[in-house]
Amino acid sequence: MTAFNSEKNLERFVSLVSEHKSANHQLFTALEEAAIEGNLTKELYHLFAVNIAARTMLSLPEIHACCIQASLDLDPLRTSYSVMTGAEEGGSGKPKEVHTVLMMNALNYHGKTVFGLQPLNLKYFMSLVRLLHASKKYKQFLKLKESCSGISDEILSPFVNREELIDICKRTSILAEIQLPNEPWETLLDIEKVEKEAHRHLLTANVLQETIDYCLAQLDVLTNMKTGYLQGVGFAHEALADGMINKMFRIMYAQINRYPSEDDFMQNVYPYFSAHGNYIEVYNGLSENSEGVEVTHAQRELEKLSQLDNEAMSVAWIGTNDFANRNVRIWDGLMNAVESKIKTFN
Ligand SMILES: [Fe+2]
Ligand SMILES: [Fe+2]
Repeated sequence: MTAFNSEKNLERFVSLVSEHKSANHQLFTALEEAAIEGNLTKELYHLFAVNIAARTMLSLPEIHACCIQASLDLDPLRTSYSVMTGAEEGGSGKPKEVHTVLMMNALNYHGKTVFGLQPLNLKYFMSLVRLLHASKKYKQFLKLKESCSGISDEILSPFVNREELIDICKRTSILAEIQLPNEPWETLLDIEKVEKEAHRHLLTANVLQETIDYCLAQLDVLTNMKTGYLQGVGFAHEALADGMINKMFRIMYAQINRYPSEDDFMQNVYPYFSAHGNYIEVYNGLSENSEGVEVTHAQRELEKLSQLDNEAMSVAWIGTNDFANRNVRIWDGLMNAVESKIKTFN
């Protein structure tokens, strides 16, 4: 594959994301103002934390899907950059520094200290989302089977693999605490029950429908090996990350007076932020920008984009748009929930 995408072409991607509603959403300003004014309630923080966590739990798998795609393409630049980013997000050999772990520690410590909240269980959310995704696929499998009467599972397996779906359902249902029907699952009614239960559990846990839709789409992205699409999603994801983390920091730091000391915040919450950049220095006017790892990740994604041919690039453009739009729907959904819960936000 030849690198022939011009700087001008790449700039379109940068502008699309930086000018997108997702990058400058009013939700974060509203939440920061509420935190400063003491209006960020326990209920609102919980809603925010649940949806940020559920949204972000699929970032790491997406980055590793990029590694697989690039290495299958035998593309040295895309492979090495994806692996570097994947290693950084994955804690670089230190389990306690996996970004998802740092994020959960920060959100949960803040929830406990400021609001007396119980910790969120991310594995529970992940299990529910995967169970919902697998049960939807299983439904497609049954419908496909119904429309081709007499066809064997083996012939259908390249399209939908029944054994794999059953395996996912069995493993995820344990953590999701959902009872599965007895095998063989041969009727739509059986699997629809599982799908509805997983969906109900997610909504009950305060995961918004917009976040559920985002997660299901991200699970599809992981298996979408169409050259360019995953790359486009990867770019938007990384390019939006630094701004989002900075805004999360500002919301949480605005409640510093609810901590026993600044040291307590720095030791228990800040590690998530310091793993990404020097947000506290930006906040205090000591630095102009975060110089964060997500900025580097976005830069790498841009260079990876430059490796694509024009056809893959136009598919990447769709991926970038889709990701930014899916992301904004979560912020819109949260904003609606915020507005309906607190009138002082207007
Ligand atoms: Fe990260
Ligand atoms: Fe990143």
